[in-house]
Order: sequence, then structure tokens, then C-alpha cells
Amino acid sequence: MALTIGIGADHAGKELKQLIAEMLRLTEHHVVDYGVAADCKTSVDYPDYAAAVASDVSNGKLDAGILVCGTGIGMQIAANKFPGVRAATVWDEFSAKMAKEHNNANILCLGARTTNHMRATELVKLWLDTPFGGSRHQARLDKIREVERRTSVGH
Ligand code: RB5
Repeated sequence: MALTIGIGADHAGKELKQLIAEMLRLTEHHVVDYGVAADCKTSVDYPDYAAAVASDVSNGKLDAGILVCGTGIGMQIAANKFPGVRAATVWDEFSAKMAKEHNNANILCLGARTTNHMRATELVKLWLDTPFGGSRHQARLDKIREVERRTSVGH
């Protein structure tokens, strides 16, 4: 199924973002680039890009998101502040597969300074191609939703 995928990065992740966007444009998926621009010469703040992509995943404008910073960690922390967002930082094939199969991650976070860039594009494909396992994993995601409702994240 063709997805609308938002992609964002800070200064540390902009080259890898471009590489991933180019790879995705060769697939059936529709890519929406949320910046930062590849020719940006200054440092920017990863929470701005995480919020832009994650809010549109949360409100349903995007089916999925990809966020790239130095480690992926800051993007993950910021993106997970949005209701319904399940952002996961992955670094190898197992974590990329599990992020979808067990956690149904709707945002993939990658570290441009921690992961080989060609490998990172393969991790994106693996995450997209892996089906969600459902069943007991859905029951656990339902519990996360319930946590959101009990905390400020759900409001
Ligand atoms: C920027 O230097 C760096 O802190 C950022 O890209 C990211 O790794 C944060 O999690």
C-alpha cells in the first residue's frame, strides 16, 4: 500500500534524509520533506523538525514519518510527546524489524552519526516491508494509548 511519509532532519541528519528521500521516491510511497534543507549552513534544533512531522502523524495527515538527527534519540524523545505517535530509534536489522512487528512504530528515527548511511536506507525498507504482528502486541499498544489518556500526552 502506498503511504504518505513525512521526513525531517536537523543539520546532523540532513544528508541522510536526502539519501532516504531519494530512495523512497523510487518506490510507490509519497514523500513529504519537512526540512531542514540540504543546503542549510547553520545548526538547527531537532525538536522543531520532530514536532512538525510528529504532529502530522498524530493528526493523520501522514501515514508515517522518518526523523534523522545525530543519534535518532532526540528526535524520538520529542516525537513521542504527540498522542498516537510511536517513534522508535533503530540501529540494526533486528531493531528495525521489531519496531514494526512488535511496536507498530509509525515514526522511524535514525542516527546519521551512528549508522552507516547505506545501511540506514536498508533499515527504512525493512521497517516499511515488515507487517505489524497484531494480537498480543496490539493489546500492549492499547495499554500505551491508555497511559496517554491518563497523562498530559493525551490532551
Ligand atoms: C546535534 O548536534 C545533535 O545533538 C542532534 O542531532 C541529536 O543527535 C540529538 O539527539
